[in-house]
Amino acid sequence: MIGVFDSGLGGLSVLAAIARDLPRADLVYLADTAHVPYGNKPEEFIRGRVLAIGRHLVETQGCTLLVVACNTATAAAVNELRLQHPGIAVVGVEPGVKPAARSSASRRIAVLATEATARSERLARLIREHAAQIHVDVVPCPGWATRVETLHLDGPEFLEELRSTVAPLLAQQVDRLVLGCTHYSFLVPQLLPLLDGRAELVDVAAAVARQVLRLRGHAAADAGSGRLTLLATARPERLQAALPALGLSWLARRAHGAAQQAAV
Ligand code: DGL
Repeated sequence: MIGVFDSGLGGLSVLAAIARDLPRADLVYLADTAHVPYGNKPEEFIRGRVLAIGRHLVETQGCTLLVVACNTATAAAVNELRLQHPGIAVVGVEPGVKPAARSSASRRIAVLATEATARSERLARLIREHAAQIHVDVVPCPGWATRVETLHLDGPEFLEELRSTVAPLLAQQVDRLVLGCTHYSFLVPQLLPLLDGRAELVDVAAAVARQVLRLRGHAAADAGSGRLTLLATARPERLQAALPALGLSWLARRAHGAAQQAAV
């Protein structure tokens, strides 16, 4: 059983990439909707949630591989989660600084992220290690994850906020915008038209799915009945309803019964 979790809906972008690659894998997705968003919360709080959810997925769901489908949670607690479960493979999600730095022609990239990820030591280290020779703008985007969470993606004020975030970056010749929060994958339809072909979005969901395959081997990772269990710490019916709204009806069809409330 592979357990995938996030503060809310964002990790569904990672889950979708894994489910696409592994049609027969048994998957469980947990959305910590009682505590979303993580991005404006203290690191210690996020760490507590990550460890509690990890324990729940291993002990009550029988997960043998955990995917932290959240940049904010990975930055805050992926090391502690690994220490807590030495026998379990743990895959984290980090902003795609490395592929963006490698492919940028202008040598200017930007990372769009939650406030917590933007100020994290883990992101600072990622930039030192993979993008020390180029210019990197780290742009905190408060409220964007909540927009996705509430499925209010097309309001004119929000579109204007997206435009006024992206336009100055393009004016500075930034040619790679890293989606440093899994929720932002669901903003691609809104962001792409603003780029006018002058920059590319960098998303790591597919790379995370490949990492799951590398760790397990395709045969082992894909052995199962292709069942998806959906869990949420609050209002599971909203998680269920969000799947078709986010273009993931095919994933909803894989779900085994209705989303359930998880007591974590
Ligand atoms: N989806 C998460 C991330 O990748 C967290 C968003 C939030 O809860 O603030 O950072």
